[in-house]
Amino acid sequence: MPTLNEIRSTFLNYYSKQGHEVVASSPLVPRNDPTLMFVNSGMVQFKNLFTGVETRDYARATSAQKCVRAGGKHNDLDNVGYTARHHTFFEMLGNFSFGDYFKKEAIPYAWELLTKEFDIPKDRLLVTVYHTDDEAAEIWKKVAGFSDDRIIRIPTNDNFWQMGPTGPCGPCTEIFFDHGDHIPGGPPGSPDEDGDRFIEIWNVVFMQNEQFEDGSMTALDMQSIDTGMGLERIGALLQGSHDNYDTDLFKALIEASAHVTSVDPYGDQNVHHRVIADHLRSTSFLIADGVMPANDGRGYVLRRIMRRAMRHAHLLGAKDPVMHQLVPALVQQMGAAYPELGQAQALIEETLRQEETRFKQTLDRGLKLLDDELDTLEQDAPLPGAAAFKLYDTFGFPLDLTQDALREKGRTVDTDGFDTAMAEQKAKARAAWTGSGEAADSTIWFDIAETHGTTDFLGYDTEVAEGQIAALVRDGAEVKSAGSGEKVQVVLNQTPFYAESGGQVGDVGTIRTEGGHALVTTTRKAAGVFIHFAEVINGTIGTGAAAQLQVDHAQRSAIRANHSATHLLHEALRETLGNHVAQRGSLNAEDRLRFDFSHSKALSAEELSKVATDVNRFIRQNSQVETRIMTPDDARAIGAQALFGEKYGDEVRVVSMGQAETGKGRDGTTYSIELCGGTHVKQTGDIGTFVLLGDSASSAGVRRIEALTGGAAFAHIERESMRMGKVANALKAQSDEVLDRLKALMDDRKSLQNEVSQLRRELAMAGGTGEGGGAEAKTINGVSFIAQVLTGVSGRDLPALIDEHKDRLKSGAVLLIADTGGKAAVAAGITKDLVGKLSAVDLVKAAVVELGGKGGGGRPDMAQGGGKDITNSDAAIKAAETVLEG
Ligand code: ALA
Repeated sequence: MPTLNEIRSTFLNYYSKQGHEVVASSPLVPRNDPTLMFVNSGMVQFKNLFTGVETRDYARATSAQKCVRAGGKHNDLDNVGYTARHHTFFEMLGNFSFGDYFKKEAIPYAWELLTKEFDIPKDRLLVTVYHTDDEAAEIWKKVAGFSDDRIIRIPTNDNFWQMGPTGPCGPCTEIFFDHGDHIPGGPPGSPDEDGDRFIEIWNVVFMQNEQFEDGSMTALDMQSIDTGMGLERIGALLQGSHDNYDTDLFKALIEASAHVTSVDPYGDQNVHHRVIADHLRSTSFLIADGVMPANDGRGYVLRRIMRRAMRHAHLLGAKDPVMHQLVPALVQQMGAAYPELGQAQALIEETLRQEETRFKQTLDRGLKLLDDELDTLEQDAPLPGAAAFKLYDTFGFPLDLTQDALREKGRTVDTDGFDTAMAEQKAKARAAWTGSGEAADSTIWFDIAETHGTTDFLGYDTEVAEGQIAALVRDGAEVKSAGSGEKVQVVLNQTPFYAESGGQVGDVGTIRTEGGHALVTTTRKAAGVFIHFAEVINGTIGTGAAAQLQVDHAQRSAIRANHSATHLLHEALRETLGNHVAQRGSLNAEDRLRFDFSHSKALSAEELSKVATDVNRFIRQNSQVETRIMTPDDARAIGAQALFGEKYGDEVRVVSMGQAETGKGRDGTTYSIELCGGTHVKQTGDIGTFVLLGDSASSAGVRRIEALTGGAAFAHIERESMRMGKVANALKAQSDEVLDRLKALMDDRKSLQNEVSQLRRELAMAGGTGEGGGAEAKTINGVSFIAQVLTGVSGRDLPALIDEHKDRLKSGAVLLIADTGGKAAVAAGITKDLVGKLSAVDLVKAAVVELGGKGGGGRPDMAQGGGKDITNSDAAIKAAETVLEG
């Protein structure tokens, strides 16, 4: 009996032998379809190849695609566990031709695989075709030798497959397996076709048309093939059952569930094990693909599935969290086919454990409330909406969990009442909303969130995605479209653009629709809505349009590196300076990072060097950066850095990196653990390198460090080293000799300066070089007075010259004016005996005014000043003489 893993391989190998490229499953979160919540069939990742918008280097492909049908249009959640074939997660095997082959080849391939490779008896198979598709019917007749009664013509949409309201589509042929007349049910198209006897196992779609929004349908240029076969169904069939949960893979998971709960796997509690097995697969694969539990969007679908499974574990009597204990069994079953599962194992286990631990705290009380409510109701009366809402709001019971719990008792919920209670709560929140206060239009974001829902952020995992334009805002008002040259704020249902927060700047990039394209200059958020500030560059963009969203890769990579480096820097500072270091602010831009932290004095060169060395050591360690979701309390309990006084929601992202030396780091094993909603590198090595530019005071008790990483850091090092090379060259020294050479030069310069000053003074005393040379003393008012204008001396030389003149005069006054390149430096001196009668300050002040200066001052025996204009030196001397004249 082949295992599911073997069946998957047989399928892929068969088509590989027929020249098909084996393409890996795409992630569950669709990157190229804004209308889909999760990938729900194999063709999603090939959508644009059918319409010819995109080409690849292969024209035929085969894949085993992960699919989730929970939330959105295809929602099988409610039925899981209670039926033989419903799943929230399943694998779709498919083969695809992109204009390469069509019906004549696709049908024989399918037939050969089923009857030869899988060895299914021909007489157990039958098919349907679209009622007008004679060609397909003919091919079946020829290939399978079927009589007309085994080629059933179906006139309905059952045999015309469309991926959605628009897009590639075409008639299809479905292959059915007859489980035999011991099982009730009729053939397809008959009134009792829904029974379990005739099971559809494979859908082969002949992609030949394209459906447009206006209802028109055209023929595609190429004729293509898209097929889908559920692995679980064909697996059950080949293992002799019509129940997917009887397959080897599910049995292994059910037995693992039985093992950890000590409840018989196949007894009357089997339904709970089934639910757990199914939900284990969807939740684990969703987490591996980057979905985290949240209270809206995809994250809420994940949470609903998780909690539903957890209630079933509770029904099995589990005291401790169960789900995370089952992950190893899942990885063992599916890890080889889907390596992402093993890679994310720790994250999956941690996320499940956290969620279950937390939900257990309210689950008991919620179930008790539910029982109490039911007791007060009449038999069969639905649970009032208000009660279901209280369970939702206070106890974390998703509506479908409550419905699931009631289903066992044959009861229902008044869903209208639930919706009313929900609407009332939203109205209250609306009334309390005050907006950011920054933009006059801030309440508009709340309105948009209410009408269109909040934005799903995809940017932790991708920089490229498709989104649907939900709203456009221009000048504070909603508009339907925006044309070339217009500045507009764009809101989409989902986006890879990071909105400015937590010190990380908003992303830039492009938005492209069929009608036009826009440049995003930054992204912000309000009321859960991501606001893309954009300028339309050409054409027109309009609401409702599907848009290709592309974050500027270079810029985002640089921002990521800076943000992760900030975390390492934070920890390096704490270890170097002490536990008082706490973040006070940060900026993670594309060109640099800035980190403000509490610390009262400047860092020494040794401290700065240690911090930079530590950060670079952890970069080179190249450890994986891990993200988990937990409550703020749990996060603090594991040592996560949180911003003091910051308000956190119910749950936070926790980013960890680096293996600490024993006993160091945040928890003795992990170097950095921080609460953070930002985007980060995958491995610390992606930061490249870290250069600390220096530290400065930011405000009282707060220091600021600025630093560079990656390309910017390298460019900085390169620039500095080139500069050093030039300096060394100019000094005719090796770079390690530069400092000594420079010191020697400075010393030389100083002694030369002294020598020059000395010589100038001697020259000045010997007669000077200026017009006033000779320095003859005149007598004014009984006082000997020397006035002289000097060139070639500086202001600094004047006091020494004044002293020499005073010595020579014995008694008298001196005024010296130095020509300092058009400007004037002035000094005056009075011999001791005259101090009290005269003041040098008065002489200088009088001279300075004439020289176009202001002030001047000093002691009565020696004062100095300066002026702008040396040409008035005669007038300055005159002014001093006037002072002496009294
Ligand atoms: N895309 C087709 C389906 O999902 C094969 O059934």
